[in-house]
Amino acid sequence: MKKYFSILSDMENKIREGQYLPGQKLPSVRIAADSYGCSISTITRAYAELEKRHAIYSVPQSGFYVVVKPGDWRDNRDGKRIDFATVLPDLDVFPYLDFQHCLNKAIDIYKYDLFTYGDPKGLDSLRQTLVSHLAGDQVFAKAEQIIVTSGAQQALEIMAKMPFPNGKAAVLVEQPSYDLYLRFLEAEGIAVHGIARTAAGIDLRELEQKFRSGEIKFFYTMSRYHNPLGTSFSAEERKAIAKLAGKYDVYVVEDDYMADLGAERQFDPIYAYDLSSHVIYLKSFSKIIFPGLRLGAIVLPERLLKTFHVYKGYPDTSLLSQAALEVYIKNGMYERHKQKIGSLYASRMRALHESVERYNEAGLIEVPGVSSGIFTQFKLKSTVNLERLIKRLAERNISVVSGKGFYLSDYLEREKFLRISISQTQPEQIDEGVKAIVEEVRKGSKR
Ligand SMILES: Cc1ncc(COP(=O)(O)O)c(C=O)c1O
Repeated sequence: MKKYFSILSDMENKIREGQYLPGQKLPSVRIAADSYGCSISTITRAYAELEKRHAIYSVPQSGFYVVVKPGDWRDNRDGKRIDFATVLPDLDVFPYLDFQHCLNKAIDIYKYDLFTYGDPKGLDSLRQTLVSHLAGDQVFAKAEQIIVTSGAQQALEIMAKMPFPNGKAAVLVEQPSYDLYLRFLEAEGIAVHGIARTAAGIDLRELEQKFRSGEIKFFYTMSRYHNPLGTSFSAEERKAIAKLAGKYDVYVVEDDYMADLGAERQFDPIYAYDLSSHVIYLKSFSKIIFPGLRLGAIVLPERLLKTFHVYKGYPDTSLLSQAALEVYIKNGMYERHKQKIGSLYASRMRALHESVERYNEAGLIEVPGVSSGIFTQFKLKSTVNLERLIKRLAERNISVVSGKGFYLSDYLEREKFLRISISQTQPEQIDEGVKAIVEEVRKGSKR
């Protein structure tokens, strides 16, 4: 099986890299079997798979031919655009053959479960698997406390709507914070307050004041690789937040949506410092695997479990996704992929800092020392016209995201910035992109 996958990957690479050109005939099944040192049936299977993916086609009595130009059959990117805007993982890095194998296995192993609706809390064996998976991140919980959700987003939405044992109503969010959640809270008319967070961190005295106000149900925070800032809290900040939560009976919703994308090994989330069961931990599998899987997990203090179950209500989270994830974790593929993707993104972040150092001598943009994850902030002077800058960059085929959307509509003390993502950019593109951004900021400042 392993041999089959490695042969298939090798053939795909040869097509993608142009070693087999469009229209070119592939080696006969016999010759390919000889050169790979495998059976004829393995090659027949690999060719059939490539044909199914429309990478090659067969001509009866003749053989197999390459159908598409290299590089354009797995996605539609033309390589010209520099995409600093995307939140999606790098498609080229994702081992989709591995995952396809897990899906097939999941159907085999769980065929009886798949013919049911399942449990709204999630597939029992996956919840058991997540106990040790989460423990690797210093999140120690019993399986009963873990609920599998349709993405972290679903868990966030449920928590905004459900009552909490502290009887309070308002949600406290960092400013800036995850844009889609802010829009959700506003659209649902949920009482929401903001507290400033910058690349330097958060003012713990102000946070204590807000907690003391008696209005806050929970504080929504990203302890590492903050979206959009890219920065992480120091251990002191994480410890202090956990302590304040217990002291003032305010819950903390810790959205660890990029837990797996760090190159740092030692990072204890706020959850690990929680002595009073006031921290709710969220995990997403979108950034490490892919968003279409629609899987997340929430770890809840026991006193919140019942209400959360009631609000989740029905078994809406794909059992097939859950079963495949379980296989993917159990056979070690998850861990391997995590190592690979973590170090890849860290190397892109290093490339970004080198380019900033090269082109930004005048200090026109401020960039925090983020070393992992996918986001960082390019902070600009308040005089920069952000809309015009973004438009000019778009004309140069560079997409970036304005910081504006990451604030509550009525929050006034905003920083002016671009959110930069490196998840789909190669080091050369990073260099060209950073150079262009600095040039455009400079032009805009002279105007
Ligand atoms: C901070 C943050 N939390 C949660 C999510 C959503 O995660 P999921 O895809 O698991 O619903 C995102 C998606 O980009 C995000 O940026």
